[in-house]
Amino acid sequence: MTRSPLPLGIDIGGSGIKGAPVDLETGSFAADRIRIETPGASTPKAVIKIVKEIAGEFESQCGDGPVGVTVPAVTSGGVVHTAANIDKGWIGADAGAMLTEALGRPVHLLNDADAAGVGEMQYGSGRGAQGTVLVVTLGTGIGSALFVDGILVPNTELGHLEIDGHDAEKRASNGAREADDLSWEKWAKRLQRYFRHVENLFWPDLIVIGGGISKKSDKYLPLLDIRTPIVPATLRNDAGIIGAAWIATQKAGRPGR
Ligand code: BGC
Repeated sequence: MTRSPLPLGIDIGGSGIKGAPVDLETGSFAADRIRIETPGASTPKAVIKIVKEIAGEFESQCGDGPVGVTVPAVTSGGVVHTAANIDKGWIGADAGAMLTEALGRPVHLLNDADAAGVGEMQYGSGRGAQGTVLVVTLGTGIGSALFVDGILVPNTELGHLEIDGHDAEKRASNGAREADDLSWEKWAKRLQRYFRHVENLFWPDLIVIGGGISKKSDKYLPLLDIRTPIVPATLRNDAGIIGAAWIATQKAGRPGR
């Protein structure tokens, strides 16, 4: 019996490019993840070369299966429209087509937070949640994924809300916590300002916090005084890869669950 190829998820971030084959039955990696440093000049050409290298490593498991790739930017129809934390050369690039050509099979491109949100809604903290759910990733920037009754509203970009005259992610991201060397208490104050603003705009039923720092949520979530239930992501930093693989499989018309 021939086994169908596993979907591959690849997450392009400001510091690392990470990929793994995904088991859609369990919503987990089917092999150890590969991570390669993002090149200093993170141009589409340099990054796509690395994506190709990662895909090559998983050739035997993933063959010509679906591939989902995430970028930290607004994307639609494969075209990238913004570049807050990556090389500006991505703006206007038809990265979906470039990746499809480089990998020799269709690649589905999407925003990194949207992919992480999809992962959490399918397999993690948002599973089965109805109403308005907001997944917010706290990393170098702030990413957002908005779901209404399980349906994604893509490219919401709530990290760039202007609050008190600042681009929100410049004050409240994990990158800002590190850059400004903030204590958990000081950072929690900034997070509270951010989440109160967001909840007053969207009135979500649930907020899920993603990104690597979600594993330390006990340090700051209890300090937040907001009305919306707020929980850490279950899949943490794996959510983007898992969500990208899930969505690419749906797009390819080969749903695995
Ligand atoms: C970008 C978003 C991205 C987020 C997290 C923001 O600066 O504009 O597209 O989702 O960072 O990486």
